[in-house]
Amino acid sequence: MVMFQTKFGIVVMMDSLLEVACLILVTGAAGYIGSHTCVSLLNAGYDIVAVDNFTNSKPEALSRVQEITGKTFSLHSVNMLNQEDLDAVFAESNIEAVIHFAGLKAVGESVAQPLRYYENNLVSTINLCKSMQKHGVKKIVFSSSATVYGAQEQVPLREDMPIAPVNPYGQTKAMIEQILRDLAVADEQFGAALLRYFNPVGAHASGRIGEDPQGIPNNLVPYVAQVAVGKRAELTVHGGDYDTPDGTGIRDYIHVMDLADGHVKALAWVMNHTGAEAFNLGTGKGSSVLEVVHAFEQASGVRIPYHIGPRRPGDAARSFADPTKAQRILGWQATKSLADMCADTWHWQSQNPNGYGE
Ligand code: NAD
Ligand code: UD1
Repeated sequence: MVMFQTKFGIVVMMDSLLEVACLILVTGAAGYIGSHTCVSLLNAGYDIVAVDNFTNSKPEALSRVQEITGKTFSLHSVNMLNQEDLDAVFAESNIEAVIHFAGLKAVGESVAQPLRYYENNLVSTINLCKSMQKHGVKKIVFSSSATVYGAQEQVPLREDMPIAPVNPYGQTKAMIEQILRDLAVADEQFGAALLRYFNPVGAHASGRIGEDPQGIPNNLVPYVAQVAVGKRAELTVHGGDYDTPDGTGIRDYIHVMDLADGHVKALAWVMNHTGAEAFNLGTGKGSSVLEVVHAFEQASGVRIPYHIGPRRPGDAARSFADPTKAQRILGWQATKSLADMCADTWHWQSQNPNGYGE
């Protein structure tokens, strides 16, 4: 709680001074993590400006963000590859910081179309940084990924371990981290939080927003959710012979609302600090594929048929975070369980079997 006196002598009490002051540009705001983070930002009292080109999302997600929060904000349909259009957004608003979600994220697609990934993810970030520089904006929170660690044998993963991405998507994340580190060296007022997400799943408790993958989902939880709702016949478990207790792969699943809260904490940190710092956003707890399947069955009351198939190339046996740096420096910690993640995913999926629709 912050108290301050206005020039009229009135004492104002509020949760944070930022509540009245801060306008945040959210790129990729209509996407899965962006839309949930917009809810948390608005609820924390920030004003936002949203940018997206809807290449992997729908404007409907942001209408629902307004419905959930009862707050409005401006939305710009801008392809960030277009520097002039992006610059115009900065010119018309007094932006103080940026949360940068926009990017392409499908690993397999990045292997098949590397130039598209390098161009979209790198050029849009360079354009963003140029606009920030031109308009004196020096604070950014960036969506990196645990994928930058590559095929590490050692777990839990810590931020000071070497990074070695194994596909073009992961390379773009590592390169953008480096660009932001270089900007922090060049400008001593520049501040960047590089957030390495583990496996974001779940949905807002309202069931109004959630993950809406295009086509066949690549990731485990959206696939399981589509099996549960009857859109897919059965799950293929990619490998049952890993050196893990039940033979299936282990990952650190994190509820998307915990992740959204991590962005609010990272934003508060970056506003008061300079330099570029990487933070793992994970729970620190690994769950196997079969544990996820059973937790989803519990949450939904639906049996999930599955069979064990071959390993997926490029998959590690286990990946989970050491989240203590984010705990110590950002004051952030995940609070939701795997059961919460499955219950909220099911709530969203069963109420919106076709996602946001056409
Ligand atoms: P998403 O695809 O749902 O959201 C990304 C958004 O960026 C989409 O709405 C898309 O339309 C937009 N976008 C892409 N290119 C753009 C451009 N040139 N101009 C304007 N908008 C553009 O993905 P998400 O799951 O919400 O992920 C958000 C960020 O987090 C991404 O950068 C992703 O790489 C990263 N990330 C995601 C995960 C995950 O599992 N979801 C894990 C680690 C990191
Ligand atoms: C994938 C991406 C990674 C990204 C991460 C977070 C790949 C190779 N890696 O990793 O870059 O950062 O998502 O979104 O795509 N599984 C099945 N059956 C399925 C789908 C998945 O058994 O149909 C298994 C996988 O083998 C893995 C676990 O479920 O053991 C989780 O898979 P997934 O959700 O794709 O996440 P990651 O493998 O961590």
